[in-house]
Amino acid sequence: MKLGVTRELPLDVTTALHPYFDEIIVYEKGRPLTENELCEAVRGKDVLICQLTDLISEKVLSHATSLKHLCTFSTGIDHLDLAALKKRGIRISHTPGVLTEATANLSWALILNCARKIKPAETFLKEGRFKGFFPNLFLGLPLELSTLGIVGMGKIGEAVAARAQTFKMKKVLYVSKTSKNIVGATPVTFDELIRLSDVISIHCPLTPETRHLFNDLVFKRMKKNAILVNTARGAIIDEAALTSHLMSHPDFTVGLDVFENEPEVFPGLLSLPNALCVPHIGSASVWAREKMAEICIQDAMRFASGTKLKYEYLYD
Ligand code: DGY
Repeated sequence: MKLGVTRELPLDVTTALHPYFDEIIVYEKGRPLTENELCEAVRGKDVLICQLTDLISEKVLSHATSLKHLCTFSTGIDHLDLAALKKRGIRISHTPGVLTEATANLSWALILNCARKIKPAETFLKEGRFKGFFPNLFLGLPLELSTLGIVGMGKIGEAVAARAQTFKMKKVLYVSKTSKNIVGATPVTFDELIRLSDVISIHCPLTPETRHLFNDLVFKRMKKNAILVNTARGAIIDEAALTSHLMSHPDFTVGLDVFENEPEVFPGLLSLPNALCVPHIGSASVWAREKMAEICIQDAMRFASGTKLKYEYLYD
């Protein structure tokens, strides 16, 4: 059996999987593979360990004539053409569960930073503009008097909601596809959520329905001084519309971990004082990333030895 790995993982894949595969090729290039390189990487492989940056498209799969198992080093699966994979009977493993706490913590890091204006305050200080304590300097949002709206109540949404109690937020609202009861949080419609929330945190997957869920019309219905945080997928927000909204509404703030066309960021967005942006590091705790690698390695082992996959994504 042959294994392809599109990038090195935080654990040593080759040593761990050597006993299970006749050939292992790691295509580490210090950057994501191009589509042509991916076509090459899948050729002749039985198993491929890929990244969320690898778009596994119909074109790529047309080169994957022996591929039977795809392990993605991610929880999200929006980079996979599920119909094309299903048609070929290719099984999928992904890494849900292990990045919940890390991602929820980053969401809160962004919320707290935006609420207390840490980024502009630091810039102000570094620019030598601090002339001593001033009663009106960088007044932020009192979280204890504010409403948090959570879009998508999966595991990460729940972990974000749980942390809201620690910060004594006045109210937590949420929208969820499934009818779930969350202690201390109230289910509402999307329209209610965007109108009533002071802080909105996005935790839904990227699907055709959620692409550009946050667009110009939605921004206009949100509070003028709202905080919008996204650690899910960039394309849930229309980044062009967001950039112009931020420009015309200086009190509206965003904390973004993900972007619509990563690694590109919409021109002008990064230099706005009301945009706090980090490079897709939601799951980047040592433990979470090692667990994600362990899941990929162990499910590839299970596949090679014909045992039941533990982290299989089951097609609808
Ligand atoms: C995922 O696994 O989908 C995350 O975006 C990685 O941080």
